[in-house]
Amino acid sequence: MKRIAVLTSGGDAPGMNSAIRAVTRTAIFHDMDVVGIRRGYQGLLDGDFSAMDLGYVADIVHRGGTKLLTARCDAFLEEKNQRRAAESLAKQGIEGLVVIGGDGSFRGALALDRLGLPVVGVPGTIDNDIYGTAASIGFSTAVNTSIWAIDHIRDTATSHQRNFLIEVMGRNAGHLALAAGLAGGAEAVLLPEIPFDLREIADKIEKGHRRGKIHSIIVLAEGAGSGVEVAAQIRDITGHEYKITNMGHVQRGGSPDHRDRLIAARMGNRAVTLLMERKSGLMVGIRGETLSVAALKEILGLKKPLPIGDYELMKVLSI
Ligand code: ADP
Ligand code: F6P
Repeated sequence: MKRIAVLTSGGDAPGMNSAIRAVTRTAIFHDMDVVGIRRGYQGLLDGDFSAMDLGYVADIVHRGGTKLLTARCDAFLEEKNQRRAAESLAKQGIEGLVVIGGDGSFRGALALDRLGLPVVGVPGTIDNDIYGTAASIGFSTAVNTSIWAIDHIRDTATSHQRNFLIEVMGRNAGHLALAAGLAGGAEAVLLPEIPFDLREIADKIEKGHRRGKIHSIIVLAEGAGSGVEVAAQIRDITGHEYKITNMGHVQRGGSPDHRDRLIAARMGNRAVTLLMERKSGLMVGIRGETLSVAALKEILGLKKPLPIGDYELMKVLSI
């Protein structure tokens, strides 16, 4: 293999830059040319390509966001456009592609694989909702950012003896909210995967108040409901006001932490060596501290289970 390309797609995630660097430098180390496709599948359709050299990826290992930019591109859902993209890559002499993104981006990757272009996926999403990998690039940093915010809110919540509801991203998945809630010491975490009874939660929080707790923090995953509505419902049950903080896109930015940089380095490198081995239609993942490889067609559509033990632990520790 002499020439490969790399793109980032979907929501950006801290560590995507570290992964771009790992892909580019591994490929150059093995005497390959690397082409960067800007703005994800949109740039692929528009021919927005730039040659990557060692300098292009200098000084990005620690930067949030993605230097290649990203996009959501509805046109790429159409087969005629996927074909056009595969043809344009072939015309450029590109023999393999690394797609850094989430499950939506991997569906696009699988479409290209089926059209004969060798493709390997590297999981990059703060949601950590991809089946077949314990972690995706960006998750660890986003959890840290969420904890940072929860800690700050806890200070003021204690001083003012107030209650807070903190909304955390994650689309339809609760991994980010659960990790943030457990590590941030929240009183309750509301997740899309687990039905919850606000009366039970309110009872428990009231018990804590009677015992002397002077504030409470509830973490709400965005997929589990609207902050405004949930806060109003709890207020109606308990008579207590809940102030709402929506973490929003703050969680998507910032310098990647050590874990995201390490997995980005390892996964980016492995993606290139898989292409060199003429493998395709795969995703590099991680199991424990070891890299794993899964077939995209087998993981897409499967729902990644929540670490249910952490949910139970959360309930014990927030007694
Ligand atoms: P993520 O990759 O973070 O899950 P999205 O779900 O928004 O983000 O997907 C990113 C992009 O991947 C979409 O805008 C689209 O261009 C492409 N994509 C998503 N689903 C498909 C699909 N079924 N077929 C082809 N391309 C897809
Ligand atoms: O997939 C990452 C994510 O941040 C989700 O947690 C969230 O639901 C979504 O992207 C937000 O997308 P956008 O940046 O387009 O508003």
